[in-house]
Amino acid sequence: MLKKVSVGCFIGVMLLNNVLFAQGEEMPKPEAESVWQYITQEKPFTDWSFWPDHQGTNPSNAPHAPKHKIYVNTQALHSKQPPLQDGSMVVKYNLSPADEVKAITLMYKVKGYNPDAGDWFWVQYSPTGEVYEAGKLEKCIGCHAAKSASDYILVHKFNN
Ligand code: HEC
Repeated sequence: MLKKVSVGCFIGVMLLNNVLFAQGEEMPKPEAESVWQYITQEKPFTDWSFWPDHQGTNPSNAPHAPKHKIYVNTQALHSKQPPLQDGSMVVKYNLSPADEVKAITLMYKVKGYNPDAGDWFWVQYSPTGEVYEAGKLEKCIGCHAAKSASDYILVHKFNN
């Protein structure tokens, strides 16, 4: 009997461990300072991946700057179909013609944050992390909604 209980406990602990592991580390709140801390200290975005169809520096069609690099975290990279997984982050590094960083714009998927517009938290930072604007930004949503079918993502084609 005692043995059964202890085996049961052991399995229970293992399952709990798996659940905790599957969730990975804690994601930040949809709040500009916490997200900045996360993408510069905890998981520096410059170590993230590029989407296979949008690698390295590319010319821009957006107002942010003439060139850019787009970094995606693991959740975004592993989202094979829209909508992107909860916790997905996409960072756009906006560059001048001389490769100076002009601004850092970011989309962060937080389940339940803004169901009317894909649950994206939007933020624009200066190169040193000052918050220009953050939240459910109508301006960002307005332009990105042109591709609401691909979950507001403009540069990446899913399943290619
Ligand atoms: C006038 C249109 C327009 C507005 C407004 C706009 N964007 Fe974009 N954004 C683009 C375009 C176009 C791209 C694709 C890359 C490129 O051509 O620069 C893009 C790409 C991005 C990406 C990379 C992921 C993707 O969708 O391809 C992020 C992140 C991003 N923008 C964030 C923002 C944020 C944050 C705001 C608001 C502060 C914003 N954008 C406002 C047009 C816009």
